[in-house]
Amino acid sequence: MIDINQVKQHYNRTIDLYSKYLGDFIQAGTLKNEYLTGNVNPYHQTIKWLLRDMEVKSGMRILDAGCGLCGPAIFLASSYNNIYIDAVTISEEQVKYSQKSINESNLTDRIKVILADYHHLPYNDNNFDAIFFFESIGYSSNHNILFKEISRVLKPNGYVYIKDVFVKEEKLSEDERCEIKNFNTVFQQLTPRRSKLQKVIEDLNFKIKFSRNLSQYLDYSFFYKSMKTQIDDHIVIDEISDYKYFRYENLPVYFGDIAAIKESK
Ligand SMILES: C[S@@+](CC[C@H](N)C(=O)[O-])C[C@H]1O[C@@H](n2cnc3c(N)ncnc32)[C@H](O)[C@@H]1O
Repeated sequence: MIDINQVKQHYNRTIDLYSKYLGDFIQAGTLKNEYLTGNVNPYHQTIKWLLRDMEVKSGMRILDAGCGLCGPAIFLASSYNNIYIDAVTISEEQVKYSQKSINESNLTDRIKVILADYHHLPYNDNNFDAIFFFESIGYSSNHNILFKEISRVLKPNGYVYIKDVFVKEEKLSEDERCEIKNFNTVFQQLTPRRSKLQKVIEDLNFKIKFSRNLSQYLDYSFFYKSMKTQIDDHIVIDEISDYKYFRYENLPVYFGDIAAIKESK
């Protein structure tokens, strides 16, 4: 089980660390170096690349579920004219931090950030054209409840897009089983298998647009490089436990994404 209070505390306590080293994005996976160009922020390039097959257009209402420090929401609202984003996080400190960044970016009329659990959203039915989960679905304790809620707040023909790490589909070795168990405990996650998550979504009347293994394109190298100083200094960035990042050798996960459309009845 996921202890939501531990997740909340973790994100409440790590604002300075993530904002300093990752610049308001809290994602482990970015495009591999060979796919990145010039001096453009790797997160900006990655998000644009991930969403290249998805419609993001003027007038859309978007929910960023598990918004972190609102780096993605601010980037999207700055890149696409006239889109409106509601952003939710389980961390009240992230809400405060994000609100300041939204004010400074002059985007208060287009981004609203609130404290909410994405399993129980304070929005009307049929409210959003699109819902994004950028490395936040691993904290869901119940995909069935979550996607009923997502279906409720999505408009018919609206879409949900999920990018995250997934447990590999093949049978796990003993070492791999131990590492994923430890990873899930330490980070209070329930890292899903993509096929299982996809089945839950399909069973709730969504049509899968695509479900992709992105290991060819995405890796951890930017994240590793950015956080390395901290690791070498043995600063424990995860206060959920005394475990440290990057201790894993056989973690059976890969980056992938799923896009699904809510069927109109
Ligand atoms: C790894 S961070 C990703 C942040 C952001 N999507 C990004 O790309 O920078 C995970 C985020 O999910 C949020 N989160 C975890 N569980 C949640 C829940 N039940 N409801 C809402 N947000 C949640 C955390 O507060 C955190 O902001």
